[in-house]
Amino acid sequence: MIIGGSASQDLASHVAKELGEKVSYVETRNFPDGERYLRIGGAIEDEVTVIQSTGYPQDENLMELLFMISTLKDLGAKRVRVVVPYMGYARQEKRFNDGESVSAKIICNLIESAGADEFLTFNIHEECVLDFFNIPARNLSAMPAIAEYMNKKYFRKTDEKPLIIAPDKGAYGFAQEISEIIGCDCTYLTKVRLGPDKVETRIVDVRCDSESENTVNIDSVKGMHAVIIDDIIATGGTIVNAINILKQYGASAVDVCCVHPILTNNGATRIYEAGAGKIIGTNSLSSDTSRVSLAKSIADALRE
Ligand code: R5P
Repeated sequence: MIIGGSASQDLASHVAKELGEKVSYVETRNFPDGERYLRIGGAIEDEVTVIQSTGYPQDENLMELLFMISTLKDLGAKRVRVVVPYMGYARQEKRFNDGESVSAKIICNLIESAGADEFLTFNIHEECVLDFFNIPARNLSAMPAIAEYMNKKYFRKTDEKPLIIAPDKGAYGFAQEISEIIGCDCTYLTKVRLGPDKVETRIVDVRCDSESENTVNIDSVKGMHAVIIDDIIATGGTIVNAINILKQYGASAVDVCCVHPILTNNGATRIYEAGAGKIIGTNSLSSDTSRVSLAKSIADALRE
């Protein structure tokens, strides 16, 4: 039995299709005072999978998720597997300043105490967040789905190989995963975060970095089709800086990929204005750029 919350209904339907199952109906609406109403249609099976991202509006989607899990358990479900393709609040995994809420921990506790028996998500910002769970929790990678999409759409029929660029060192693992699948080179830039919506990107001669013997020098960007990969695009500041640098170093074209296209504060417009050809995101969040479906990856993980 597959149930999609209102943030992930399309994705849930496609997962159900992959698994040859029906997706169950959930009715949601707001009461006049803004409180959420939720009703699950049909008979409840022993094993249920709930799919719901908790992006914007985060609080509403989160409440819906908690309502679904708890109601399913109340109504007799024996095992509830919870798939949160994009997990909101995951970026505050510790107390950076005195007195702050460790929101990621609170969210994990809430999901577990609502009755979740297993938790799955994609490319969570900090993997250590999953340690807040006492139930099995898995961090799936969207990179195979993104690489397959890129290969099929852009590179399979040509000899052209892109150069995969991580906009900061934290994203370098993603670039490596994709470049291995496509069979091309990758490298990374260095980012300094000056504030929540202000980042500065610098060039490092990555060949001088002993940890990164397989990366290519930034000068190799000249004449290349560069594809930037990151987990999240929020304001787009990180990506705009990366595009500017890649253009400055002579990239012939720059496309942008991410797992979670939050794209707030006109992020997409700013990225296109900076010169990106395409923005390719997954459907962990619904947006104009959500071109890569995670349905098969979720179905495969649920079969394991
Ligand atoms: C942070 O390290 C993440 O991987 C992303 O690079 C970041 O969340 C992107 O934020 P923004 O689009 O606001 O620069």
